[in-house]
Amino acid sequence: MSRLSLILQLLIRKSSSLLWRFYFGIVYRPSFIYFGKKARIARPMKIEGAQNISIGSGSIINTNAWLGALPLMEGVEPRLVIGAVTYIGRNAHIIAIKHVNIGDKVLIADRVYISDNLHEYYNPNIPVMDQPVVIKGEVEIGNGSWIGENVCIIGTRIGKNCVIGANSVVTSEIPDYCVAIGAPARIIKRWNKEKHEWLNEEV
Ligand SMILES: CC(C)(COP(=O)(O)OP(=O)(O)OC[C@H]1O[C@@H](n2cnc3c(N)ncnc32)[C@H](O)[C@@H]1OP(=O)(O)O)[C@@H](O)C(=O)NCCC(=O)NCCS
Repeated sequence: MSRLSLILQLLIRKSSSLLWRFYFGIVYRPSFIYFGKKARIARPMKIEGAQNISIGSGSIINTNAWLGALPLMEGVEPRLVIGAVTYIGRNAHIIAIKHVNIGDKVLIADRVYISDNLHEYYNPNIPVMDQPVVIKGEVEIGNGSWIGENVCIIGTRIGKNCVIGANSVVTSEIPDYCVAIGAPARIIKRWNKEKHEWLNEEV
């Protein structure tokens, strides 16, 4: 690839990201419940329901995110809360119809799916896409946790300072200070306060 082509690519990327920042500042930013100081969303794929989304100071959401906080259940006010100084990688897909709460200083790698809901599938005679979306369970991710690449977190809670290995599917609760891996995610290590070390989980 020629040097000119590389320079052009860089210029296009830079100018479109500047355009996005300008547009975001005027159109999007004021519509969030809260958008903290020095928080940043790089060019997203889609943001739905910004009026139900709060993003804490210093948090960064990298490119191509799809964020949604949608009032799909009657009488339920959706909330997607992202704490302070949290980092969310590229291509994140995070959807709340009731409550998704991501804490402070959470490190989230690329391509995660986090949601408190699922498509109902009780009637096999109706295409799933035509069946209602229902609440599976509120999602919490505790302060200081690390979520690896390609992780799915569906309707459950993860405690403080947990580590969730790449490609895991988390559908049941992970308490504070645990390492969990796999689909479905299982705990493989816990922090032992007395011994001051991570101990392997007995199998
Ligand atoms: C979970 C993780 C942190 C564990 O690292 P670790 O503490 O060094 O653990 P180990 O490598 O000793 O692994 C312990 C066991 O779990 C297995 N394991 C580790 N990560 C796994 C994963 N993501 N999926 C399935 N099994 C995994 C190991 O093979 C090993 O199995 P064994 O005891 O049968 O040999 C790491 O493997 C991981 O997935 N990191 C996420 C990386 C990532 O997504 N980074 C994005 C950049 S922010």
